[in-house]
Amino acid sequence: MSLVVALTGGSGFIGGQIARMLVAQGFNVRALSRTQSGLKKGMFWVRGSLEDTRSLAELVAGAGVVIHCAGAVRGRDAHGFRAVNVDGSRRVMEAARQSGTCERFLHMSSLAARYPELSWYSRSKFDAEQEVLRAAGTVSVAIFRPTAVYGPGDRELQPLFSWLLRGLLLRLGAGEAHLSFVHVFDLTAAVVQWVSSPEARPGTYELGDGTLGGYSWKGLASIAADIRQARVREIPVSLTLLKCIARANLALSYLLPRAPMLTTSKVNELTHHDWTCSNTAITAALGWVPQIKLRRALQDGLF
Ligand SMILES: NC(=O)c1ccc[n+]([C@@H]2O[C@H](COP(=O)([O-])OP(=O)(O)OC[C@H]3O[C@@H](n4cnc5c(N)ncnc54)[C@H](OP(=O)(O)O)[C@@H]3O)[C@@H](O)[C@H]2O)c1
Repeated sequence: MSLVVALTGGSGFIGGQIARMLVAQGFNVRALSRTQSGLKKGMFWVRGSLEDTRSLAELVAGAGVVIHCAGAVRGRDAHGFRAVNVDGSRRVMEAARQSGTCERFLHMSSLAARYPELSWYSRSKFDAEQEVLRAAGTVSVAIFRPTAVYGPGDRELQPLFSWLLRGLLLRLGAGEAHLSFVHVFDLTAAVVQWVSSPEARPGTYELGDGTLGGYSWKGLASIAADIRQARVREIPVSLTLLKCIARANLALSYLLPRAPMLTTSKVNELTHHDWTCSNTAITAALGWVPQIKLRRALQDGLF
């Protein structure tokens, strides 16, 4: 297999960690970027985008492995998510297949794809999986479905954990929800194990930190209370209030350059009751076992 690994999303939170880890392990990484080009940070950047098929062909030329980690995690409507996540993923797979050298393709999906009906994002992640599989031809496809990912460089969960350690937990939606998390170092280790595996390991794999049954809101509060040796105040945010904030956030976002994270569509995802996650399939396929539980990450400031 060629040692060239082509990567999309290398400028992002998860893709950036994957790129660093692959470079550290001696892989020859070629990464897509909308802003950079040339040799930087130990890898070669191809300037382009998911919309630009010429740059995608350049990205994957001669690569034996393609890791597609670019994606939209924020958006104003279903169309915006679909354009990046579904159409973009299909273009990356078509380029990979047409390269004639790609043997393995890793598609970074999300646990959200388990419930396409929940949100624009989850629908787009599910549809992207189907498109990638449809366009794959003889390329072996692994689909990773990580749950909520946190760690250095993350901006979405970081505030929740920081406030938790200051003694405040904003509880969204039903009190009895089961949440799950995975540290970006563990997710990245799984990607490197998949790349390094002598056998291609096609399949769809969920990835979490291995906590059986996930975390309840109360469980999160109790972990933080143990660490800070002081109580944590739980503040429930009702669904009605959350939806009001989401509507205001969407309206405000038209004045800002960045698409919003919190929308009424996202609220359905955030307040869903079952985000438990099973590592059984990926542990069987790769022997991957996550090393970092949330308690340790919070204790050691690994977020
Ligand atoms: N974070 C999580 O908790 C989580 C959980 C499960 C799955 N995921 C999935 O993991 C992937 C990465 O997420 P992340 O949290 O790392 O997001 P992120 O930090 O927002 O990174 C997204 C990456 O995608 C790139 N990108 C977006 N649209 C693009 C386009 N049209 N053309 C080229 N590149 C484009 C971005 O490039 P720019 O730097 O140029 O914007 C960036 O490198 C996504 O597919 C997401 O669905 C994330």
